[in-house]
Amino acid sequence: AAIMKGKFDTFMQKEIYEQPESVVNTMRGRVNFDEQRITLGGLRAYLPIMRRSRRIVFIACGTSYHSCLATRAIFEELTEIPVGVELASDFLDRKTPIFRDDVCVFLSQSGETADTIMAMRYCMDRGALCVGVVNTVGSTISRETHCGVHINAGPEVGVASTKAYTSQYVALMMIALQLSEDRISFTERRNQIINGLHSLSAQITKVLELDPILEELAEGIHKNKSLLIMGRGMQHATCLEGALKIKEISYMHSEGILAGELKHGPLALIDENMPVIIIMTRDSLYPKVQSAFAQITARKARPIVLCNEGDDGIPANATTIRVPQTVDSLQGLLNIIPLQLLSYHLAVKNGCDVDFPRNLAKSVTVE
Ligand code: AGP
Repeated sequence: AAIMKGKFDTFMQKEIYEQPESVVNTMRGRVNFDEQRITLGGLRAYLPIMRRSRRIVFIACGTSYHSCLATRAIFEELTEIPVGVELASDFLDRKTPIFRDDVCVFLSQSGETADTIMAMRYCMDRGALCVGVVNTVGSTISRETHCGVHINAGPEVGVASTKAYTSQYVALMMIALQLSEDRISFTERRNQIINGLHSLSAQITKVLELDPILEELAEGIHKNKSLLIMGRGMQHATCLEGALKIKEISYMHSEGILAGELKHGPLALIDENMPVIIIMTRDSLYPKVQSAFAQITARKARPIVLCNEGDDGIPANATTIRVPQTVDSLQGLLNIIPLQLLSYHLAVKNGCDVDFPRNLAKSVTVE
């Protein structure tokens, strides 16, 4: 059946607005909220091998790579297995050593990205267990991997990936939860996350209500040359993903910066004219991000602060984007949405073709 835009102007906008449902579709039949259990049928037979492995390697490109970065910390925390995150092209360029007892997880919306497919075949040849986390049923990665999880986000048409990102993120969270279900000491932490997943859809709906605020912000910065997005810890991935969205569809330069690296170079970019978004949602790294905030305001920047609703630790004169609070490892799912909306409005204001940005294809089937 033809996929229609309905009341939306573009597929990207439609897909951004689908996220309250698409994340639920990713969890449907897999998360039992009453019993606080996860069941991923596609992995069942392989769970013992995965739990015994000495390392897990996530391999992907672009936005799919960012979903791996976003979930790496919680994966390591819950499984206590070291997790490597690799860009498929670089992984192949380095001829990375891969062994029979490695678990390699390939993330791809399309399942047809050439670099990711080549990396998968490389790992297959070396005898690793290959797991696919893919949106497109019947795609090359979904067919050739040993096992996997379909993210069930529904077809994504806009070149800029939005709902696939949040669904990949949820799928990776479910895998981490399932792998750690035999760990009694993690029960409380796991239940906290499962409860967070339960509230996710309603919280995303609330974040989407910020749309007019983001359009206004876009109005103020769309003529700027560059936009910096900084944060740390689990939010570094949000910064990188937000910056990729902005570059790709609005053609404005944007860079995601790890706040811990500021003093090692990027601080030199800061002056009163440089627009900066700083992600300051409440997690254990909050005090460290506060000090980054102080460093940039001391250089006369007036950062836009992405923070939690009701946070009174943010200076009263700061411009804020306020999102609901959730458990630390899910906060990135809410934080990315204002950045998706901002990139959308920047692109529209710059007169860009949102669904078909210049020079890009939806799936990159050549090396
Ligand atoms: C995201 O907005 C991009 N269009 C791009 O980075 C994309 O995520 C990348 O090409 C990977 O695609 P895949 O998920 O289909 O493998």
